[in-house]
Amino acid sequence: MTTTQVQPAALKVTTGAAYGRILGIGGYRPSRVVDNAEICTMIDSSDEWIKTRSGILERRWAEPHETVQMMAVEAARKALARAEIAPEQIDCVIVSTVTHFHQTPAIATRIAAAVGAKGAAAFDIGAACAGFCYATALADSMIRTGTAKYVLAIGAERLSDLTDKHDRTTAFLFADGAGAAVIGPSDSPAIGPVAWGSDGDQADLIVQTNAWDAAILQAEAGQDAGASGRAVLRMEGNPVFKWAAYTIAKVAADAMERAGVTAETLDVFAPHQANMRIVDAMARTLRLPERVVIARDIAHQGNTSAASIPLALEALMESREVHLGQTCLIIGFGAGLVYAGQVIVLP
Ligand SMILES: CC(C)(COP(=O)(O)OP(=O)(O)OC[C@H]1O[C@@H](n2cnc3c(N)ncnc32)[C@H](O)[C@@H]1OP(=O)(O)O)[C@@H](O)C(=O)NCCC(=O)NCCS
Repeated sequence: MTTTQVQPAALKVTTGAAYGRILGIGGYRPSRVVDNAEICTMIDSSDEWIKTRSGILERRWAEPHETVQMMAVEAARKALARAEIAPEQIDCVIVSTVTHFHQTPAIATRIAAAVGAKGAAAFDIGAACAGFCYATALADSMIRTGTAKYVLAIGAERLSDLTDKHDRTTAFLFADGAGAAVIGPSDSPAIGPVAWGSDGDQADLIVQTNAWDAAILQAEAGQDAGASGRAVLRMEGNPVFKWAAYTIAKVAADAMERAGVTAETLDVFAPHQANMRIVDAMARTLRLPERVVIARDIAHQGNTSAASIPLALEALMESREVHLGQTCLIIGFGAGLVYAGQVIVLP
């Protein structure tokens, strides 16, 4: 068979803004505060152990009306207001979550509609605790290729739904909340190149037990899944701790190098809030000087997965510890294992 070569029609392609920038950040923190004393009624532990091993003093667990969608919408509205961008201007909504329990449709479409970003492209990503940095990288690329002008990047989680409250290795860690960023065009560089990747060989270190198909089969067989059959997160904390504190610190250094920023020129460090000891270990490995402001939102918020970085940034901005235009290293890491980090300019 012979093939005839035809001259392809010249396709038009888009080009976008020279650079992307975070224009506004917003967060939602559930109303119910759960302190370590309450956690210790569910697991064999102590306030002292939880404080010294994780740095967590309290966390927030969502009430029934504080759904993933509700929290995401509240965070997005704050981010839009701070960015001074109308919802109709949003071209794309990216939501990172592991606690939206409908396989389809993506929750991003409902969130887009609820905030008033009608007609925007909308999709979910599953990048766990690296989700906000993944979404930021995607948004930045879209803006620079002209695929979108304004993007809403959201991390929203109700990890309390996926936590075994009687598992002493995870019950004190995981928490709920949402954080959002409006990302748009910029005249000057304000989102550095992403350093990202995955290590699926270590996927079993943090997993959801009982996949949905197993739950469906149990239901079809008329079996009551009961407490033991419920899907929950299981984590091998210590290997994850070591991976995060050492391997991920190198990824953070790579993100700084790619952005041309050094420990001497960096202003703020806002890593995923997984454990205060991981935050401290990373800061030591990166040799960050005393003057670099470090996000420590985990003390009052626990680990909120994809929501933790925007929530931590919002807390720093509200405390006026940081200022518009400062350089900030963000880095997320978690189940997958996945990781992503970049240097951003604060809005
Ligand atoms: C979970 C975590 C706080 C545990 O801290 P750790 O220092 O690694 O603790 P270990 O698991 O080695 O356990 C140390 C001891 O404390 C005990 N212990 C574990 N959980 C406990 C609890 N809630 N209360 C009291 N003691 C506890 C263990 O049984 C062990 O006792 P032993 O020394 O007598 O055997 C820590 O591993 C961690 O934060 N891991 C990473 C979390 C993370 O990044 N998550 C994923 C990214 S989203």
